[in-house]
Formats: sequence, C-alpha cells, structure tokens
Amino acid sequence: MSTTDTSQTNTGNHVRIFDTTLRDGEQSPGASMNLEEKMRIAEVLEGMGVDIIEAGFPIASDGDFECVNQIAKTVTKSTVCGLARATRADIERCAEAIKPAKQGRIHTFIATSPLHMEFKLQLEPDAVYQKVIESVTLARNFADDVEWSCEDGSRSDHDFLCRCVEAAINAGASTINVPDTVGYTMPREYGELISMLMNRVPNIDKAVVSVHCHNDLGLAVANSLAAVDAGARQVECTINGLGERAGNAALEEIVMALRTRQDTMPFSTNIVTEDIMRASKLVSTVTGFNVQPNKAIVGANAFAHESGIHQDGMLKHAGTYEIMTPESVGLNESNLVLGKHSGRHAFKEKILELGYELGDNAIQDAFKRFKDLADVKKDVFDEDIIALVDDEVVRANDRIRMVSLEIVCGNVHKEPKATLEMDVDGEVQSCTCTGDGPVDAAFTAIRELFPHGARLQLYQVHAVTQGTDAQAEVTVRLEEDGRTVNGQGADTDTMVASVRAYINALNKLLVKREKSAPEAMTA
Ligand code: KIV
Ligand code: ZN
Repeated sequence: MSTTDTSQTNTGNHVRIFDTTLRDGEQSPGASMNLEEKMRIAEVLEGMGVDIIEAGFPIASDGDFECVNQIAKTVTKSTVCGLARATRADIERCAEAIKPAKQGRIHTFIATSPLHMEFKLQLEPDAVYQKVIESVTLARNFADDVEWSCEDGSRSDHDFLCRCVEAAINAGASTINVPDTVGYTMPREYGELISMLMNRVPNIDKAVVSVHCHNDLGLAVANSLAAVDAGARQVECTINGLGERAGNAALEEIVMALRTRQDTMPFSTNIVTEDIMRASKLVSTVTGFNVQPNKAIVGANAFAHESGIHQDGMLKHAGTYEIMTPESVGLNESNLVLGKHSGRHAFKEKILELGYELGDNAIQDAFKRFKDLADVKKDVFDEDIIALVDDEVVRANDRIRMVSLEIVCGNVHKEPKATLEMDVDGEVQSCTCTGDGPVDAAFTAIRELFPHGARLQLYQVHAVTQGTDAQAEVTVRLEEDGRTVNGQGADTDTMVASVRAYINALNKLLVKREKSAPEAMTA
C-alpha cells in the first residue's frame, strides 16, 4: 500500500516527508554518490518511513537515470520521484526512469519569479504560464502522481503565482511545491505566502501544498515549520540538511520538532525516528560531509552534558536539560558486541541485527577482518562492526586493491617512506616512495603504481569510537575533469585506512560515468 495518500490533501494533520538527499543533496559540490551508495541510502530512507524519495534528475546523465531507475525497481513502500524541467525531453526521460516504480512521481518545475523568468529563462510570464500547463499535462500522460514546483516561488509575484498554481492543478498536478530556492524568506512571510495560496487559489483543496526551503540564512527549518502551521502538508528536506550552498531543511530537525512539540504543532509523520542516527551516519560517511558536533539532533554533542550544573540537573531529572531522549533518535549506549572468542554464527547474527544483508563471501571476508580487529582492539562495538562491514561493502567491486603497506616515519627518519604492494586487475606490483610525510609518501606510491591526473580535494580522518585503539575512518575526495568521488577506508592503522580510502576513491573514478549538467539546472 502506498504510504503517500494524496487523496487527503491539506486538511488532515499528517505531514508527508519528501526526502531529496539523493537529488538536491547530491547537488552539493563534492557530495556525489555512486549507484551502490544511492541504493543503500534509498533502502534506509524507505525503512525509516520516508513517504517520497526524490532519487535524482534523470536527464542530467545516464548515471542519474540509472540510479532513479534502479531505485524505482527496488523501493516498494515509498513513492519514487524523479525531477524534470518543463521540457518534453526531461519529462519523457523522467517518466522512463520511474516506470518500474510501484508508486512513481514526476516532479516538474519552472521558475516563476521576475528575476528568473527574465534573465535565466528569457521568457515572458505568459510563455511560462503556457509551459506550466503543457509540462504538467505531458507529465500526466505518464504518471498519475505529478508534482509541480514554482522555482524561486518565494520571490514570485503573488497574482502570477496564484494563476500558475491554479493552472498546474487544473492540468493534473496533485502536489504543488513552493520553493524558497535561495533561502531568502522569513518564517512569518513564508507562512503568509502559504496562507495566501490557500485562501486565493480556488482549487487548492485538490492538491497537497508542499514546501522546499534552502538554508542560506539558516532559516530552512523555521520556514518549513511556519509553512506547516499555515497549511502545507508536505515538507521537502534532506538528511543532515545536505544540499546546494548552505543546504536544505534538515529532515531530522523537522521530524523531531514536530514530534517534540506536539503541544503546539499537533502533526504526525511516518518517520521511525529511531532510524535517524543511522541515516545521518550513512549519508555523512558516503559523502565525506562531516556532521558538525553541535548540529541539532545528530551532532556528536547534541545529547552531551558537560557542565557541572547540567550534569547535576540531569541526574535529578533528565527532563531538566533534555527535551527528547537520545534513544528517540536512535542514539543508544555503545554496545559492547563481540570479542575475540565470538564465533561466525554470533557475527552473522550481529550483522543481520545491524541491518546488513551480505552474501556468503562477503560475510566470510568481513568475519576475517573482524577476527583481525578483535586481535588488536580490546572492545569491539557496534560502530566498529558497522565501519568494518561498510568498508567491505564499498570495496566489493574494486579493480585496484591494497595488498600490503609498510611505512617508515617518525622524527629520526629524515624522509618518510612508504612501500606499497597493490593489485591492479589481478596483477600485483610494488614500489617504495618517499614524501613530505607518511600520507604523502603513501599517496605518491599509489600514483606511481597507478598513474592518474586526479587532484586530492579532501583528506579527512575521524575515530570510529573512543580510545587510542579506535579504528580510523578516512575519507578521500578526488577530482578529475570536474568529476568528484569520495572514497572511504577504515582500519585501526590510520595509514592503512588512508591508503584504502584513496584506492577506493580511485576505483570509483574508474567507474564514474560522465555526469554532464544541462544548462540552467539550478535548483
Ligand atoms: O530549490 C528549488 O527550487 C528546487 C526545485 C527544483 C524544487 O530544488
Ligand atoms: Zn532546492
């Protein structure tokens, strides 16, 4: 059954969550994700009850098309949506991509603000109005579920906006999205804009009103909530607030605000909030976009109480300083899971409990790595298993693999040295290189064994758990001819994790298809 009941429009108290991490989120420079990563994120979004997953912009590239198409084939509970500009080519490509979906949606948009119409589209308002009708009518030939967005809606003329919205609904759009594309609006103003549409558009009751807010002034969540108060019943958002420029409204903040403040905002969502941390972690690992420690809901400090006064209050009554529980967002006490004597069966059970479905070979490899880890690390936690299994999953199809690495460094050696053995398409080669430091030496050795012109854009290390024996989780971002990839690696040895991450990024670069953005794809 569909989780998106579009027959109930703006009257009930249910707010649909439309996640656009895989589309608007991926438009953040450097946040590119490959098919396998998008499929994993889509699976988590579906599991956590997201009503609509915007899986990509199918016309943008063959890679984008394939992602939307594959997600449409596998996701059954959420509606799978693709984005299309107001052109035949975009809409037909989008329709093709979402065709296999149990519930598919075409999301078509055109800008309606004077600035965008004059300078970007170079069209008169009447021509834009015609395109609204034509695009929605065409989209309806392919899908029952069509969403129409007025790009830069918050800076559009109200009379013109009302005309366009009415026409889009008459042409068959069942969701009307009003983006604050440049994050310009203020909560009161945006709430009034939504109320104005509710009051003035005669057929507004035939569509769900949706909001899509960017965070340029840090107001995306506040604006979205003001719009819900004014009658919007779909919120477009992303995990960790990922998105163009300053990002989109953060899904976790919207959902937890609604859950925590039922007294003043009595709205429901379908989100299983206990899955929030898992989704946040996955998105930050895949994109290499770290979550700032003081980020609401998912930041490492969001539930930490440092000062004596706060700790004292917490011990007396958790409600003194905690408005929601860590458990409600899936932050549980670290589980001491397995030790060096744990067997294959216990390990397999743990992997299933953590939500992974691995084939026999992958379990075998992961189990071997777990045993190696348990030999060097006293306590093995859930986070360690997740890092280790994620690491196995990301490199399942790698053409290039690290065989061995030896590093000589420290202040008695004038020149740090790395000796690397690498397997490229089944052929093992080795070399020794020096560098400014151990990381430089190791990365130089990779370039020596597999020459390439990619530029290193990001090298980032963070500890999976606490303590000096913690695994290091490394992200490496490479850029070549405008194409960006993020590689990950995890190991108790930071240098091994670094080389794994670089090699993983290189493997992704090899399989990355051309992702050429069409003109005026601003969104
Ligand atoms: O920000 C925006 O206007 C968009 C639209 C395409 C919905 O992302
Ligand atoms: Zn956007």
